[in-house]
Amino acid sequence: MPVIRFVREGRDVECYPGENLRDVALREGIQLYGLKGQLGNCGGCGQCITCFVEVKGDQSAANSLSARTAVEDAKLRRRPESWRLACQALVERSVVILTRPQVSMGDQRRRIEAALGAPLPQGPTAWPVVESGEDDDEEAGDDEVVQNQSSTDAPATPGDEP
Ligand code: FES
Repeated sequence: MPVIRFVREGRDVECYPGENLRDVALREGIQLYGLKGQLGNCGGCGQCITCFVEVKGDQSAANSLSARTAVEDAKLRRRPESWRLACQALVERSVVILTRPQVSMGDQRRRIEAALGAPLPQGPTAWPVVESGEDDDEEAGDDEVVQNQSSTDAPATPGDEP
């Protein structure tokens, strides 16, 4: 199951197969955007071209994400093949990602090699069980019924008590 290793941030983040890379990054507080994207981005529609990421590793690493979309083909024409738009990519297998690849970072080569060299931990093995809000509603409904029953048990007029 997928683990996304964010090299710049030095973090491994678990996700579930098919999750959107941008959504996972935002959920985990990973900054995808440079200043321009922070000031304004398209919200994941593939139009602003500010959510660049680079997939590190060989071709099999590239296959860890869903295939490039037509939007990416159009928007990333002049960018390296390994670059993706996070908002267009679904995570299928564990992958090493460099956010904001247009911005270099200190000791970049060593950090990337270390990220690629360390084994990726196994991620979650099942989708999380979401506690349904329906039970709460049912319980609330039960309370309501109980309240209604108790109100019907109450005497209609003072002095009718059993
Ligand atoms: S968020 Fe605008 S292109 Fe990805």
